[in-house]
Amino acid sequence: MTTTTPKRYTVTAALPYANGPVHIGHLAGVYLPADIYVRYLRLQNRDVKFICGSDEHGVPITIRAKKEGITPQQAVDKYHELIKQSFADFNISFDIYDRTSSKIHHETASDFFLKLYNDGKFLEQTTQQYYDEKAQQFLADRYIVGTCPKCGNENAYGDQCESCGTSLNATDLINPKSTLSGAVPVMRETKHWYLPLNEYEPWLREWIVEGHKGDWKPNVYGQCKSWIDQGLQPRAVTRDLDWGVPVPVPGGEGKVLYVWFDAPIGYISATKALTPDWEKYWKDEETKLVHFIGKDNIVFHCIIFPSMLKAHGDYILPDNVPANEFLNLEGDKISTSRNWAVWLHEYLEDFKGKGDVLRYALCANAPETKDNDFTWKDYQARNNNELLAILGNFINRAVVLTQKYYNGAVPTRNELTDYDKVVLEDLNGMPMVIAAHLERYKFRDGLGELMNLARLGNKYLADTEPWKLIKTDEERVKTIMNIALQISASLAILMEPFLPDSAAKLRAMLNMEAGMWADAGAADLLKDGHVIGTPALLFERVEDTAVEAQVQKLLDTKKANEIANSVTEPAKENISFEEFSKMDIRIGTILAAEKVAKTKKLLKLTIDTGIDQRTVVSGIAEFFNPDEIVGQQVSILVNLAPRDIKGITSQGMILMAENADGSLAFVQPSVAVKNGGTVS
Ligand code: 2FM
Ligand code: ZN
Repeated sequence: MTTTTPKRYTVTAALPYANGPVHIGHLAGVYLPADIYVRYLRLQNRDVKFICGSDEHGVPITIRAKKEGITPQQAVDKYHELIKQSFADFNISFDIYDRTSSKIHHETASDFFLKLYNDGKFLEQTTQQYYDEKAQQFLADRYIVGTCPKCGNENAYGDQCESCGTSLNATDLINPKSTLSGAVPVMRETKHWYLPLNEYEPWLREWIVEGHKGDWKPNVYGQCKSWIDQGLQPRAVTRDLDWGVPVPVPGGEGKVLYVWFDAPIGYISATKALTPDWEKYWKDEETKLVHFIGKDNIVFHCIIFPSMLKAHGDYILPDNVPANEFLNLEGDKISTSRNWAVWLHEYLEDFKGKGDVLRYALCANAPETKDNDFTWKDYQARNNNELLAILGNFINRAVVLTQKYYNGAVPTRNELTDYDKVVLEDLNGMPMVIAAHLERYKFRDGLGELMNLARLGNKYLADTEPWKLIKTDEERVKTIMNIALQISASLAILMEPFLPDSAAKLRAMLNMEAGMWADAGAADLLKDGHVIGTPALLFERVEDTAVEAQVQKLLDTKKANEIANSVTEPAKENISFEEFSKMDIRIGTILAAEKVAKTKKLLKLTIDTGIDQRTVVSGIAEFFNPDEIVGQQVSILVNLAPRDIKGITSQGMILMAENADGSLAFVQPSVAVKNGGTVS
């Protein structure tokens, strides 16, 4: 733990897999807190490099490429660009957003491995692993499915059963099957290199369990301690795969570095790509290294990567790893495969110019100590009741009244009342209060205090009522408005890490230069006579329709998932051709349709069957509006014996297709067919 101000900072944010777009869970867990922290450090004039990039190797990439029918290279090219652009549009202010398929990364990762290899830091082990003889390759855990020995789920993966959550070895699965070819995999010998984590256990215990107690977040510390307490095993750092950084030693042909070996080295290679001074940021003990990650990455950043750095010997270790918990969406786990997410690029498209609103909603509700839930209702309330009603409202009053009373020139303060003095004191203390939270990675609390400053401003104006006082005591109003403007100017600085677009807007409104953290809190940030800019609204109301459309999008996703996951009914018993040909099915056209009185489900249809015009009663009223189906062609079983339904004789039956959600569709010819045309 560093207690004095470090000489410089290296701040990393987990490299997202380039296998899909970024969603709000990623933002709330990793990128937003990292960005707030870095922006704050820059305002403190600290030397900081903010490093990120795409994680372009590993099975997640090859699986995605296969799914989309493209090569892994095409997949990472596509998603790298998409992710990079959406981060930029969301004002995540990386100093570099690199990628692990770059030459510099391949060289850096390869050299790192080679150094450990030459220094004798690895164990070489030959083991039996599953091999797909049809696809001619070893199978990574995610490429094997089988029956979970715990719960019987037939689609459990080689590393985990998603149904019961048990973590598995591929060899635990009953009836294993390759997802590449469907073949039953066989066991084959293969050699790999292992990092003997067990040898690092005493050191890890001292460094983390003793050294970072009370310093690292309880969720991070607790996970690390439990890993160490359970005892660490040697961990393979190579894989039989053809996508990744090739293993650069004899016997490594056809093998690549394990993605979790190469990815964190990506932080180093990206820094190399950023600056020739990169070594200062990775090798100088006076540099503070901070990794922002999600909770699923804790073991890699706290145990495995530090052991790699330690084994290498030249590098500093992380000072802190402020991992967050997960963000859920409308009560359900965010999932890329189920499309249960709010995708950043779609949000930015649907809510143009409202990046800050999402930043605010995510930070105010960040999963810092436990999993949290994002709801569109909360998003709307955060905007309308907090950003707009508290922050926006205060700024608007201060700026509009200054324009109105003084043509925009900052009035000079007169003698201060006790109340004024207290307000100025509170203002003065605020930068320290917020900084203390941010230095301890408590971004929600920091944001809460920022809003408290806006609340203070609102209360001050509400208590002093300058709009009434202007009629009786113009001199007093000058003091009040001066103080309100000083609060506004400090807000413009202090809100920058959280709400960078709005901070820039506010600076323009106040006609002020970008200030530093140390400037905030001062009673004379805006000098007497300084002329402010034109008032504009800092935030707009988020209307019901906007959030309802988003909720509808999610409901549509849920429905689509239900349909995709529904089980198809098994086939019925065989029938003979003669039996089938007894059915006389024709194409007909609906001439008229009306609801059958006192029923919910029934429509009375008049159909031109080509043979005759007849009445059919059909149970489709819940899915079709009578007016809209007139003129449509349908398939009708014309030789079904007539039946009496609700007092109407129904002569035949309309053929319907039923979807997984129970909704119905007509079975129709793909081009118009003359009425009476046979279906066979
Ligand atoms: O979990 C993930 O999305 C990984 N791609 C994170 C990698 S972080 C780092 F080590 F590069
Ligand atoms: Zn299971």
